[in-house]
Amino acid sequence: PSINEMLNAFDFEAVARKVLKPESWAYYSSGAEDELTLRENHAAFHRILFKPRVLINVSNISTTTTFLSSPSSLPVYITACALGKLGHPEGEVVLTRAAGAKGVIQMMPTLASCSLDEMLDARVVGQDTWFQLYVNGDREVTRKVVKRAEERGCKGLFVTVDAPSLGRREKDMRLKYSSSVSDIQEKNNGSNVNRNMGAARAISSFIDATLSWPDIEWLGSITTMPIVLKGIQTGQDAVRAAYLPCVKGIVVSNHGGRQLDTCRSGIQILPEVVAALKSVGLRDRLEIFLDGGVRRGADIFKALALGAKGVGIGRPSLYA
Ligand code: FNR
Repeated sequence: PSINEMLNAFDFEAVARKVLKPESWAYYSSGAEDELTLRENHAAFHRILFKPRVLINVSNISTTTTFLSSPSSLPVYITACALGKLGHPEGEVVLTRAAGAKGVIQMMPTLASCSLDEMLDARVVGQDTWFQLYVNGDREVTRKVVKRAEERGCKGLFVTVDAPSLGRREKDMRLKYSSSVSDIQEKNNGSNVNRNMGAARAISSFIDATLSWPDIEWLGSITTMPIVLKGIQTGQDAVRAAYLPCVKGIVVSNHGGRQLDTCRSGIQILPEVVAALKSVGLRDRLEIFLDGGVRRGADIFKALALGAKGVGIGRPSLYA
């Protein structure tokens, strides 16, 4: 189909399924184990219905907002997804350009196919971006990459906290990983990997299972970037995050259903998070973001109505 026939995010998914290489489709589309959380992420939006009010003058409306002081043309950002070159020969820089052209923020992944500098060089003047961090077992590696992101003007450090070990994505595990994956592997740690375990396992062998709350304070001590914890799934952890001065936000997320299966969707967790923060008087301490299953404008609206500042889009940006 031509681009004009693509009416919604699902249309891009249908085409991507046909044109992507099988291992790319497997890596992008997969969720953990029975993919219950993956399905739940979008399904949960269907269970929330509107109570529309009428007779309000809506002739002059704006979709613009600010995230962590950066302007955004929409309450939407492109969230971090590893291995952009599985979907496009140029990789993540095409998303950087798209974000620049449309005035939205891209969260640049640690495990991108392009280098951080390649992505940052693809920015237009005044384009703000964020950096997604996987904390390395070797903290010096992490210190360097955080410094680099800060020096080059990244406006937020999104620390992924829901991946102490890798989710079991069986679709991906059934396929051997390709050469574009081994490039990343070399760049990030260079150690031996099991070539039979799929793309995700191949790139993530350095992820540090010891990561815990004191590490977040350490990150706060080595950077001036605002820290946002990506992958909060309970009111309790939201409150704990809010008590850390360096943490300026959270992403209510289950990693697109790719980590622990049978977790709740972000949109289901959001009211609990907002209520927990309110109950300790810290509602205004954090900007709350949400991702997972956002596929329609109505989904974005529901997230905002329930207290999110903005939402992240993962697979739809890869498929497009
Ligand atoms: C991801 N996600 C992710 N998150 C992260 O913090 N670091 C990463 O490297 C990746 N990599 C990644 C690869 C792929 C192929 C996908 C689909 C997702 C998770 C991502 O940031 C986000 O949480 C979800 O993708 C949101 O769900 P939707 O929009 O894909 O439904």
